[in-house]
Amino acid sequence: MIETLRWTAAGVEMIDQTRLPHVEEFVLCADYKAVADAIQTMIIRGAPAIGVAAAMGVALGAQQASDENFDAEFETICQTLAATRPTAVNLFWGIERMRRLRQSLAGEPLSVVREKLMAEAQLVHDEDIAINKRIGAFGAPLVPDGKTVLTHCNAGALATAGYGTALGVIRAAVEAGKKIDVFADETRPFLQGSRLTVWELQKDGIDTTLITDNMAGHFLRSGRIGCVVVGADRIAANGDVANKIGTYGVAVLAKENGVPFYVAAPISTLDLSIPGGEQIPIEERSASEVTAMFGHKVAPDGTKVKNPAFDVTPNRYVAGIITERGVATAPFEENLRKLVEGK
Ligand code: MRU
Repeated sequence: MIETLRWTAAGVEMIDQTRLPHVEEFVLCADYKAVADAIQTMIIRGAPAIGVAAAMGVALGAQQASDENFDAEFETICQTLAATRPTAVNLFWGIERMRRLRQSLAGEPLSVVREKLMAEAQLVHDEDIAINKRIGAFGAPLVPDGKTVLTHCNAGALATAGYGTALGVIRAAVEAGKKIDVFADETRPFLQGSRLTVWELQKDGIDTTLITDNMAGHFLRSGRIGCVVVGADRIAANGDVANKIGTYGVAVLAKENGVPFYVAAPISTLDLSIPGGEQIPIEERSASEVTAMFGHKVAPDGTKVKNPAFDVTPNRYVAGIITERGVATAPFEENLRKLVEGK
């Protein structure tokens, strides 16, 4: 299985996702600032993966924080990591989990606190893989046999600690013996689909075809696509879903053509404090991602640009939200809450 990130004696190592698919290189983050930088520059990306990276970053920072000023430094570490990217709620979830642990250990010797923070970050990592396997098990029966699954962006092993959410559903369907193939949207401007999804599915020997984003409607209309499965960066209480820019268009086209549109995400991606999608903060990234493609200019100098990294798909386009606790369908407000409360 692809290792997205791991502990080493020298710090946190992560596969550099800005260099894939042609360069497979691990970079070492020797302190929490390097982890924050890796999240911001998208060396590591994908909602669950940045949640895990943030938890590891907090643990790493705590190892290096001074005894004299531990709690003030701990807070700076949490705030620095939280300021990296605004949309994926898993980032804040990972940091909050570490903060709560620290608070529960008030009065313990700092050696114990540091040790427990390291163990907790490893647990966050390992749990994420187990969660993805459960998402896969709930999602696989929804995938029609003998058809094509369309996916957008990369919600795979690389976007998580391993196995993936949307790609976890695809992997589980293949493991269950279903004869399916995958269409991967290339996902402009950062090309997570062509660079990452195609790369990791090829490694698993899963039949994958790359299409540009503007081809999705054509194939959804053709009758060949059995379902769409994507990941999510944040899901509001009413089931509105923030995911990679372009997801909304795919969802509308899927509904228009009678193709079920599924979202695969862990419970940690649910943000029940936010009533609807309009309250989800959408990251705006640099114009250069749009005016140039990996060093090559593709627009005149001085071009005005918009580059929202995510969009919101209203819940009416969503056939089901596949979590590690089961599949929520409409009415989402009620059914997501039941899943979170474990009912
Ligand atoms: O900007 P990115 O690459 O971090 O965006 C990733 C996505 O939008 C994924 O679909 C989402 O995080 C789910 S990953 C399991």
